[in-house]
Amino acid sequence: MATARAAHGPARILVSCAGIDTPGRIVGRDRLAAPLEDFVRVVSVNLIGTYNVLRLAAAHMRALDPLESGERGVIVNTASVVGYEGQVGHTAYAASKAGIIGMTLPAARELSRSGIRVNTIAPGLFDTPMMRRLPEEAREALGASVPFPRRLGKPEEYAELVVHIIRNAMMNGEVVRLDGAIRLPPV
Ligand SMILES: NC(=O)c1ccc[n+]([C@@H]2O[C@H](COP(=O)([O-])OP(=O)(O)OC[C@H]3O[C@@H](n4cnc5c(N)ncnc54)[C@H](O)[C@@H]3O)[C@@H](O)[C@H]2O)c1
Repeated sequence: MATARAAHGPARILVSCAGIDTPGRIVGRDRLAAPLEDFVRVVSVNLIGTYNVLRLAAAHMRALDPLESGERGVIVNTASVVGYEGQVGHTAYAASKAGIIGMTLPAARELSRSGIRVNTIAPGLFDTPMMRRLPEEAREALGASVPFPRRLGKPEEYAELVVHIIRNAMMNGEVVRLDGAIRLPPV
């Protein structure tokens, strides 16, 4: 936070996007329990990482003078629809994203006193480098599984929602699905 402040001035906006997935079944085909480290790593980066940056940014924002509107800052976290409809093999990722969904309201309630809003976006399937690791046919099939529009989301559509959340002072303590109405199947 100090390095960022020195380079860019005080931060009133935090957008947390870092996230990883390490797919794996709880009990593998070899009938052995999954390595605990995989679960710990995903929860550590996705959930604890999000909380860590949130707490540091909130302390930084709280020390700033409020704007005329009384606002000091806005925090936008990134969960996933997997936090609601986790699929087989994604227990750790689902748990980490459900944790982000769960902390949104208590964080918003607490930080309201300081004029800091907290919201979370739960994206569906988006065409990002994470998704580009899949073969083209698999990405097309995933896109076609979205009710409407029948395609993967574009990163700029995610960004548009971030900008709206920042501008709209009434948006607080909310988790917004951005998913073309997709509901993920079990597998
Ligand atoms: N792409 C999708 O379909 C989709 C859907 C739902 C949610 N999400 C979420 O959106 C966010 C962005 O994902 P993306 O699709 O752009 O994936 P991505 O892999 O393209 O980007 C993830 C970013 O996280 C960073 N990162 C990973 N581990 C980190 C760490 N320990 N510390 C700091 N940075 C770290 C990576 O460097 C990378 O820039 C993630 O939280 C992901 O879970 C993505």
